[in-house]
Amino acid sequence: MNDRLTPEKLRSWRWFGPNDLRSFGHRSRARQMGLGPDDWQGKPIIAILNTWSEINPCHLHFKVLAENVRKGVLQAGGLPVEIPVLSLSESFMKPTTMLYRNLLAMETEEVLRCHPVDGAVLLGACDKTTPALIMGSLSAGLPFIFVPGGPMLRGNWHGETLGSGSDAWKYWAEKRAGNLSEAAWCEIEDGIARSHGHCMTMGTASTMTAITETLGLTMPGASSIPASDAAHWRMAAESGRQIVQNVWQDLRPSRFLDLRSFENAIVADMAVGGSTNAIIHLIAMAGRAGVPLALAKFDEISRRTPRLADLRPAGRFLMEDFYFAGGLRALLAQVPDLLHLPARTVNGRTLGENLEGAQIYKPEVIRPRGEALSADGGTAVLYGNLAPDGAVIKHAAMEPRFQQHTGPALVFADYDDLAARIDDPELPVTADTVLVLQNAGPVGAPGMPEWGMLPIPQKLLKAGVRDLLRISDARMSGTSYGACVLHIAPESAVGGPLALVQTGDLICLDVPARSLTLQVSEADLAARRAAWKPTPSRAKRGYLSLFLQEVTQADQGCDFRFLHAGEPLPEPAIH
Ligand code: FES
Repeated sequence: MNDRLTPEKLRSWRWFGPNDLRSFGHRSRARQMGLGPDDWQGKPIIAILNTWSEINPCHLHFKVLAENVRKGVLQAGGLPVEIPVLSLSESFMKPTTMLYRNLLAMETEEVLRCHPVDGAVLLGACDKTTPALIMGSLSAGLPFIFVPGGPMLRGNWHGETLGSGSDAWKYWAEKRAGNLSEAAWCEIEDGIARSHGHCMTMGTASTMTAITETLGLTMPGASSIPASDAAHWRMAAESGRQIVQNVWQDLRPSRFLDLRSFENAIVADMAVGGSTNAIIHLIAMAGRAGVPLALAKFDEISRRTPRLADLRPAGRFLMEDFYFAGGLRALLAQVPDLLHLPARTVNGRTLGENLEGAQIYKPEVIRPRGEALSADGGTAVLYGNLAPDGAVIKHAAMEPRFQQHTGPALVFADYDDLAARIDDPELPVTADTVLVLQNAGPVGAPGMPEWGMLPIPQKLLKAGVRDLLRISDARMSGTSYGACVLHIAPESAVGGPLALVQTGDLICLDVPARSLTLQVSEADLAARRAAWKPTPSRAKRGYLSLFLQEVTQADQGCDFRFLHAGEPLPEPAIH
């Protein structure tokens, strides 16, 4: 336990404490806001970074959530200040929120650095908001706690449970196959998102909040609580109380996160059957903490981590079921031997201490260790001449026939090409074809959208085919499924081997051997490489131009090169 800071050691004291003209200005302006010395003197100032937006349905409840954090901060003797930051609305932002993850990370870092705050509570949930807020806060280096926004309730259609994303893909395929009426499709639209909160499958949002809890950045148990459960408000207030203590104790995640914490997070990712997107975000978050995290580490940990959560898209249940089954604590308590239990967390206790007493209440949802759904985590990292720097596949969520598969490539040069031709009745495709999408990576798309679950051609859907091997440098929604090789690095737009694939080439996927190969001779590949020309950049100015210049490849986390951990930036001068 650190010694308690004195009030003069608080960061905010530099703004409010000195007896000079500049501090006079800060204090008089604080009085303008209705505050007085009782509000700021000797009190930690806590930023509540709120990603609320009227066009982000997953965060629609964040104004009330912030009020509950505020209550906790006040109870513990701090001064809460709510500061709005960019809301990354997965549902509406185009081409992809991934293009803006680093922008929110930059905003978070700078908002914390430039204001008179001693610590922060981060409100996030919808996919990229979680890694972005954490990346920025790690770089800012202040004490912080993450408050996950909570999953929405189960969807419902005619008494059938609907899961975010995964059931949209499933019923869309049935509609395209001619098996679902327009009226039924509209009813599903009504019932699939019936409360506030983030996607309630084990998609990217649920995966990232589970990972964040395992990293020790939330209060214990926080990530499993449904957004509309009263326990969620109580958790928010508890986080508010805790951050005030953490400021006094100078408990900073940027100091306690280490490789053990990130290995724990990967164990959680695999045991819950998490989204492939988490791989990119975890590498980026580790980069901000100064912890090198190799892509190969995910394969290594996946091989020894049993999948215990029977959650969609890979399984049957939803987050509400997971919560009532005991939640993340119950799941992690099944694998203590795979975890670094002494890893520190934001409540001042170790991960192991936070797991004490956790129990499974519904073993059909969270499997006991001895009854795992699979012996491994179901995610593999592939290498080969098509992916020299790696690619990933969530093989737990695909038809087993693709474990070892060789088939002819059918190449789409970009997403527009795919959209134009995929349902052409003359498309030369069979159930063995390998669909290849180029130019869908960080630079190519740009922003690496979730295009990796390429649609099954309509003619195959009508023939009863529901899975097909698909490969790309894109990502895939965490709520998606199927035999989709993703995150191929280096990507095609920067001259990676994916750019050299031609229709008719044989592609071989071997999941047990962790390999992805293009069966074309080295001489032919060299000739194709010599003839390859990059597409001229589409952005000469603005944020997109910065993104294209600075974004790293998927195996590096897609952070900006200049944002990786390094020398801490100096505190702002107060003149
Ligand atoms: Fe926000 Fe899925 S759309 S979490």
